[in-house]
Amino acid sequence: MAKKILVTGGTGYIGSHTVVELQQAGYDVVIVDNLSNSNIDVLDGIERITGKRPVFDKLDCTDFEAMKSLFAKYHFDGIIHFAASKAVGESVQQPLLYYRNNLVSLINLLELMPANQVKGIVFSSSCTVYGEPDYNPIDENAPIKPAASPYGNTKQINEEIIQDFVHSGAPIKSIILRYFNPIGAHPSAEIGELPLGVPQNLVPYITQTGIGVRYQLSVFGDDYHTPDGSCIRDFINVVDLAKAHVIAIERMLEDKSEEKVEIFNLGTGKGLSVLELIHVFEKVSGTALNYKIVGRREGDIEKIWAQPDKANNVLGWKAVETIEDTMASAWRWQLRLREKGVM
Ligand code: UD1
Repeated sequence: MAKKILVTGGTGYIGSHTVVELQQAGYDVVIVDNLSNSNIDVLDGIERITGKRPVFDKLDCTDFEAMKSLFAKYHFDGIIHFAASKAVGESVQQPLLYYRNNLVSLINLLELMPANQVKGIVFSSSCTVYGEPDYNPIDENAPIKPAASPYGNTKQINEEIIQDFVHSGAPIKSIILRYFNPIGAHPSAEIGELPLGVPQNLVPYITQTGIGVRYQLSVFGDDYHTPDGSCIRDFINVVDLAKAHVIAIERMLEDKSEEKVEIFNLGTGKGLSVLELIHVFEKVSGTALNYKIVGRREGDIEKIWAQPDKANNVLGWKAVETIEDTMASAWRWQLRLREKGVM
């Protein structure tokens, strides 16, 4: 019988791509999402790609009673926990919303796992835990830096909550995945990133400017200590990223490791500057992007990219998509949104 995976936040950006990969790998998926930052239509896209509609329950993971009923209704073999608020700026404005949503959701899941014989949880963490790194590429043993925002703090605290719970003897396993900068869309253009309102992240802002929904992209700073003065990031294709989750779930459920908690960086190992990424976009889309250099954005890290050796060698996962194909996929998705009249 196919194993059943609970995917919280499964209609979101990374969640939806992961559901596709899970279904294609033969898993049964149950999605819960409160639809606070995603759309139910995502299920149609997933169904068109995989030929299968995942089970969906509109639930808020902070609602313990609702989650308890869900665990009584289905037996889950494992959990992939994406559901969280993720806007850095908003988290500074509304810290309690972030602490409640991001911490309580995880605590509820952990509390329900042992009693319901759920063996493992994959947790979505972020390279934000490294702060401004002392060296690049950054590996998993690098020190955790004081968080620059409540959002970043929730990732750090949640990692600690998982470690503490497992070390207390709880009969569960966990894999913590630290994402670098996920971008792009499914090659079919059936699913992709759909930020509500004005995008905070770079790539949706680029593609929306490219298509004319936004007038101009502001590049935040060209006076950093980098070759072209703009910030450097490790941009990782979202489908590559999604595939790592399938490998992680299998690793836990099939006890491929003795370790009860493992941490992996998920990145390409290559740093690309904001200006370089803009030029890749211009090349693959055949459009000139209207952008201008403005002042730095508060809280931005100058440069960070991953040392992905542990994920490559231990997990057996590697980012394979080129940055050109990835930006082309983001652009195809933006064109599809226009075709559908969404944007
Ligand atoms: C941030 C968070 C990260 C989180 C991710 C997803 C930090 C340090 N990083 O990543 O943890 O997982 O968002 O929400 O908290 N840029 C522009 N113009 C724009 C938008 C962005 O120049 O309109 C630049 C930024 O200055 C930055 C780069 O593009 O140098 C990437 O920005 P963004 O996509 O927002 O991601 P991060 O800030 O790296």
